[in-house]
Amino acid sequence: MFDALSDFARLIAAGARLSRHDALIPEEVAHHLPAPARAAGALTRLGARKIDASGHRLRPGERLAAAFEGMSPAYVKLGQFMATRPDIIGFDMAADLGRLQDKMPPFPRAEAVAEIERAFQKPLDALFDDFSGPIAAASIAQVHRARLKDGREVAVKVLRPRIETEVTAEFRAFARAARLIEGLSPATKRMEPVRFIETLQAAAALELDLRMEAAAASALKDDLADTPSVRIPEIVWPLTARRVLTLEWIEASPIGDFAALAAKGVDRKVLARTIIEIFLTQALMKGFFHADMHQGNLMIDGAGRLALVDFGIMGRLDEETRRVFAEIIHGFITRDYRRTAKVHFDAGYVPKTQSIDAFAQGLRAVGEPLFGLAADKVDMSRVLQQLFDVTALFDMHLRPELVLLQRTMVTVEGVARALDPEINMWETAAPIVRAAIAEAIGPRRQLEKLRAATQKALDIAPLLPRYVEIIAAASAQAAAGPSAETAPDLARTLERQGRLTRAALWFAGAAGFVLAAALLAGKI
Ligand SMILES: Nc1ncnc2c1ncn2[C@@H]1O[C@H](COP(=O)(O)OP(=O)(O)O)[C@@H](O)[C@H]1O
Ligand SMILES: [Mg+2]
Repeated sequence: MFDALSDFARLIAAGARLSRHDALIPEEVAHHLPAPARAAGALTRLGARKIDASGHRLRPGERLAAAFEGMSPAYVKLGQFMATRPDIIGFDMAADLGRLQDKMPPFPRAEAVAEIERAFQKPLDALFDDFSGPIAAASIAQVHRARLKDGREVAVKVLRPRIETEVTAEFRAFARAARLIEGLSPATKRMEPVRFIETLQAAAALELDLRMEAAAASALKDDLADTPSVRIPEIVWPLTARRVLTLEWIEASPIGDFAALAAKGVDRKVLARTIIEIFLTQALMKGFFHADMHQGNLMIDGAGRLALVDFGIMGRLDEETRRVFAEIIHGFITRDYRRTAKVHFDAGYVPKTQSIDAFAQGLRAVGEPLFGLAADKVDMSRVLQQLFDVTALFDMHLRPELVLLQRTMVTVEGVARALDPEINMWETAAPIVRAAIAEAIGPRRQLEKLRAATQKALDIAPLLPRYVEIIAAASAQAAAGPSAETAPDLARTLERQGRLTRAALWFAGAAGFVLAAALLAGKI
């Protein structure tokens, strides 16, 4: 009872704030809704702020972002997460929400100190010298600068006090709202709001444990050890806990400070390429990438190297997904839309009930116009928007990790274009994509697969004679006719025979394969 009241109180407060920005039931979507909701929408719009200071009429996504900014952390996360789902909320809204600023007033230094002393059970003076006030504050954590006892400069990220309780309460309210929304109509049910909130909650839980962020940074640092143009801060593990992350301080300037870049002798064109290369190499070759590569998390150190910070949101693509993705891109590059369509179907991205040829036609509609254009005129983000349109037509369920990849791609493209407006994204991406395709589906990969399959086949080879016996016995039994008296017995016998036949076929195939594979393997 108390929970329900508190949930509704939270929702009403949030609703009031959203209404003030006409972001609760925006005018632009109201006409899709049933009459009572339309009427409620009209009411909530009274007195809502729809234009910005310079008189520009705000789009729904901009209004939503404005409303979320400064709300409690869970809403900021909700906004950021919605930005990663253009498949649900539409591309423009997602793009507008993607610009949501995660800035918050800092909490007092004394509270950060208390958190640190509680985490390590020692007074601050025993851990750090020169512990600064907050230098950056966002919805979940804030960052301080300090010096270790051995003289090393560090950045110390501390979670906001009581953030977990706050986030849990908000999520309980979200879940309640999601259940209500899901029950409204078949259309709202299709949007799966309950699952959406559950996924968001799982993602937020990861961000609320800074040891996960530390581990992500350390893994990325290992991956990029041989890439001298990039720098990832070293983690100071003894001073890292669930609520505190200590990492090497990187003296650096923001990537948007072009004067500082020039002073450090950084060629912006080269830097733009580096950013794209790092991102694509990590995503397509290693399957592990920084998925929050906006300007605020990219800096340039004293030696002109690109420094990455903030490892709260990372993307992963397993080998199979990488292969599928590489195949899709390959299909596009070679204009083989039928093949691209088939890959989507085989991977289960598009329901089997859809027509593969019609899907190929949709892909052609996206792909063909690109070929006549100068590459620097083609925005990846526009192409993605069209792809999303096609996939929506075909009831395609987007895999969250692919959506995160695509979204990061759009962010990276924006950062790169800000540095070099003339950058040719495709030319920069092509060698990496080609290498990824070769790695995923090229001869070397096929050879590895063949070796693995050969080994498997050889492992089962000794069993073959035994199976031949079983099959012979089964055939004899089948030839003699069913001896069973009752129907269930008969069913069982038939079922057993069916199983055996399948097993027989499988092993016959395997035997053939052993031979073929052994021959091939011998040759290579
Ligand atoms: N290791 C570091 N060295 C120097 N500055 C850092 C370091 N880590 C973070 N910062 C600064 O603190 C800001 C916030 O850190 P970040 O990890 O991005 O936190 P948030 O998740 O709150 O965005 C960064 O934008 C950067 O300016
Ligand atoms: Mg950040």
